[in-house]
Amino acid sequence: MLSYRHGYHAANIADVLKHATLLASLDWMQRKEKPFRFIDTHAGAGHYRLDHPFAQKTKEADDGFLKLDALPASGAPAAIKRLRTAVERYAISFPGHYPGSPALAATELRAIDRGDFYELHPSDFETLDGYLGGLRRNVDAHHSDGFEGLLSCLPAVQKRALVLIDPSYEMDSDFTRLPKVIREVKARQNNAVVLIWYPVIYRNQSDNLLKSIRNAWQGSNFHFELQSAPDSSARGMTANGMLVLNPTYGLYPALESLGQYLADNNMVIGFQGEDHTE
Ligand SMILES: C[S@@+](CC[C@H](N)C(=O)[O-])C[C@H]1O[C@@H](n2cnc3c(N)ncnc32)[C@H](O)[C@@H]1O
Repeated sequence: MLSYRHGYHAANIADVLKHATLLASLDWMQRKEKPFRFIDTHAGAGHYRLDHPFAQKTKEADDGFLKLDALPASGAPAAIKRLRTAVERYAISFPGHYPGSPALAATELRAIDRGDFYELHPSDFETLDGYLGGLRRNVDAHHSDGFEGLLSCLPAVQKRALVLIDPSYEMDSDFTRLPKVIREVKARQNNAVVLIWYPVIYRNQSDNLLKSIRNAWQGSNFHFELQSAPDSSARGMTANGMLVLNPTYGLYPALESLGQYLADNNMVIGFQGEDHTE
């Protein structure tokens, strides 16, 4: 039984990193005229009202996108500017909403591209389906398992793929399934660009996750993390990161600029990563 609802966490600091990474990758994929397939394995509800009781209960957005959005626009690095522009543009059609990964991607995809969005939670799937159904024909919501869905999409007929894997990690099996799925992705489409979000709750758990995925992938990759608090043995997320397989050109330095900007504005206490781009 899934209990995680992204509405409690929408627009938090993890969304800032994840969505800035997603938008930069979408931008790069679209520099070529050739189509690509976008696969969002853990899509959530699509978009979120920040005045909803869920968001109001945690107020995580206050230390995330809302804090960022209150900073002067000048001087922000490209990845931040792109995110702010996308959210502002989105609010014209959906006032008071923060776009989740499906809304950001669906807005950006061209008519030649295709998007597949997987979500298991019944209520969030209903919202997602209602939202995507009102858009264009090249996006589909699936009420099914995102790991299996991903593999069913590959190899993509478009020959290029961008994948976002954003599990809630509420089940231990998320940690063990990920490396197995990545091994299969590599076998089916080794040019896929894969963006994997992960939390740092227990440092050795996230280190093991990175290690096992890298072992499965055996190719170009980097990880980049934002540190919100010193690591601790008590439960609670102290950092969050993106592990990117086949990163698009210039993404790692772009995220370093983002991390520096967030640190300079006291939104994180630091950032770190390892670039194994070949
Ligand atoms: C972190 S949220 C997704 C947020 C979204 N990617 C965004 O950036 O706006 C994770 C979602 O995955 C869903 N979920 C959990 N396990 C899943 C699975 N095996 N397949 C598809 N969805 C799953 C949860 O119900 C939850 O809505």
